[in-house]
Amino acid sequence: MQRSLAPEIMDDPQVPEHVRERFHHQLGFIQRLLGTHRAVLDALRSDAHPVRRVLDIGCGYGALLDEIRRALRVDVVGAELRAPRCNDLGIPIIEADATRDRLPDADVAVCVLVLHHLGEEEIVALVRNAGRSVRRFIAMDLVRHWLPMALFTAFLSPLLMREVAADGRQSIRRAYTAAELRAIVERAVAGTGARVVHTVTPLRSRQTIDIVWVEA
Ligand SMILES: C[S@@+](CC[C@H](N)C(=O)[O-])C[C@H]1O[C@@H](n2cnc3c(N)ncnc32)[C@H](O)[C@@H]1O
Repeated sequence: MQRSLAPEIMDDPQVPEHVRERFHHQLGFIQRLLGTHRAVLDALRSDAHPVRRVLDIGCGYGALLDEIRRALRVDVVGAELRAPRCNDLGIPIIEADATRDRLPDADVAVCVLVLHHLGEEEIVALVRNAGRSVRRFIAMDLVRHWLPMALFTAFLSPLLMREVAADGRQSIRRAYTAAELRAIVERAVAGTGARVVHTVTPLRSRQTIDIVWVEA
């Protein structure tokens, strides 16, 4: 499958706030169903060092941070290109372009379903930028492959509102293959001594990049 660069519906800044909010609500439902939030919590729990503050890059409305805050009792902060106008969860969210704006300091940054929105150089820039603010960066994203496309279309699309189903399929077309993402991230951390662990779930529903910058 060729990588498609066509934009998703939610990339349009003109999308009304109430549609965007509902979109993120359904996205949270999918993430819980697929175990992504649980995987993030497990990764944070197994950190070798104390985790006191977690940054979510591209946090949407902050649903994941709300779960992290309640489950781990840690301080949380979000960075989002389009910060929500209403923030019912009371999560601190700064409006920032994570590829270039200074991000809040934290122990660990998580970044879920954001990388497929970015070009290769933007991912390199985001990883390097995150490395200035955190000691560990955990990114989870889709895999461009026919298997998740077929499974999403058959089992999840019918449960979702039209925009979410369409964006879900486009997100898979826009995602990186495991080999592509691995190569981009290796380039981003080259020469820093960072340790990178890259895993892919058996049904290719998700790939995870876990970077730890080791202090000299
Ligand atoms: C598919 S949504 C995922 C939202 C949330 N992480 C989740 O898993 O439900 C992608 C989010 O990344 C944000 N985003 C895209 N590019 C970004 C950038 N350069 N800096 C910060 N946020 C970005 C978008 O505004 C959008 O809210």
